[in-house]
Amino acid sequence: MDKVIAIDGPSASGKSTLARTLSEKLGIPYINTGSMFRATALAAQKRNIAWDDEKALQDMLRTVTMEYKVNSNGEFELFCDGEFPGEALRSAEIAAGASKVGTCPAVREELKNQQRRMSAIGWIVMEGRDIGTVIFPDAEFKFFITASPLERARRRLAQEGDKAGGTLEEVAAAIAARDEQDSNRAVAPLKPAADAELVDNSNMTLEETFNYIYNKVKDAVL
Ligand code: DC
Repeated sequence: MDKVIAIDGPSASGKSTLARTLSEKLGIPYINTGSMFRATALAAQKRNIAWDDEKALQDMLRTVTMEYKVNSNGEFELFCDGEFPGEALRSAEIAAGASKVGTCPAVREELKNQQRRMSAIGWIVMEGRDIGTVIFPDAEFKFFITASPLERARRRLAQEGDKAGGTLEEVAAAIAARDEQDSNRAVAPLKPAADAELVDNSNMTLEETFNYIYNKVKDAVL
């Protein structure tokens, strides 16, 4: 078994906050794999490489370095080509690009190899879409966090305001469309591992979600 807490689920399900808080409270590294897909989309944009040009993306990824480092706030953050790309990864445009490059098998293969290497040092919490199914099928803990599209749209609006990209209904529709793209791609689609615990937190606060999961993992990790 791998010493990995796999946190999978759709966007805006609260899984990032959950994974980050678990990392803080357990004192273990946090790997947000979505930022690697986002960084791939951003690096391609900078080099004028199309998000569906699989061969060019594959060649590019051989030269782009990605690791997770502790930033000035004491949090684990993606460090890419000598800098923290940070906010540049958060735009709706780059999110759409990340979803697009994530449909390329060669991109997934390259990032999978990098993600697997990140487990060598002891317990980690890794968050994404396919951690429990593809990256660490032998993870000790697997959780699939979800909530209804409307509830996720509410959270996104509360968190991002104008940057969320529209009204409640528009944001909910965009979230449902991205779920659809992520769930129906041929390689590593967004779906719970057979042995993952499904946590629908539509009617739970993020704190309740955290406490529920923390209590399940703490004895093994601490
Ligand atoms: O978690 P996020 O919103 O930062 O992820 C951005 C996109 O990256 C998401 O739409 C799908 C893709 N992704 C993926 O395909 N596999 C992962 N493990 C993480 C993200």
